[in-house]
Amino acid sequence: MSTINIAIDGPAGAGKSTIAKSVAKELGYVYVDTGAMYRALGLYFLRNHIPAEDTAKIVKSLPEIDVTICYENGEQIVMLCGENVNGLIRTEEVGNMASRISPIPEVREKLRDLQRGLARKENVIMDGRDIGTTILPDARLKIFLTASPVVRAKRRYQELLERGVECDLNEIERDIIQRDEQDMSRAVSPLRRAEDAVLLDCSDMTVEETKNKIIALLAEA
Ligand code: DC
Repeated sequence: MSTINIAIDGPAGAGKSTIAKSVAKELGYVYVDTGAMYRALGLYFLRNHIPAEDTAKIVKSLPEIDVTICYENGEQIVMLCGENVNGLIRTEEVGNMASRISPIPEVREKLRDLQRGLARKENVIMDGRDIGTTILPDARLKIFLTASPVVRAKRRYQELLERGVECDLNEIERDIIQRDEQDMSRAVSPLRRAEDAVLLDCSDMTVEETKNKIIALLAEA
């Protein structure tokens, strides 16, 4: 029996993971956060002092980096070489590194098979940058979720504050705009709306409204 997949792409801080998690819970789907996989690789290179510009070294070390996913009480756990790194990958530094290494084709290839394998096994709602365009071109429903940069920066700011991380709103907004540029301008699998994706601007929508909209769109798909 084939699985039903939902793809959610969009820029940093649009609320993809919050929305995808709540849709997954309501529908009993598995939530797959692909950004966390790029972040785990980013963490590995930061820890090993391998700069994002050193493509040759990055490509050479890829075979020795083991990234896997498991689920505990419905929560996705990213394992990096056997270590649960969930608590270490949510910093702006790691997010930036993830964005800087994500244009490398070999990096994307490494994670592509892991992502497609998960979607073949279960009904998933998967979020990222190239899910609708590249990873799951046959997804039942594709959403391109966005919000204005100011709203996205405020949401990120709030999220970091709640986790007790000290941060500066203007710096976050600058960082978000720079990361969008990086993710949209890369040659391989850039962030872009798939032709058959529904554009959803959730700047003025609550999580509940956005979730309900996606569930209604799935019923129509
Ligand atoms: O969604 P996030 O902020 O956790 O993602 C971190 C970075 O990883 C993002 O800036 C670009 C990269 N990424 C990607 O290139 N493709 C994906 N499917 C997911 C993330």
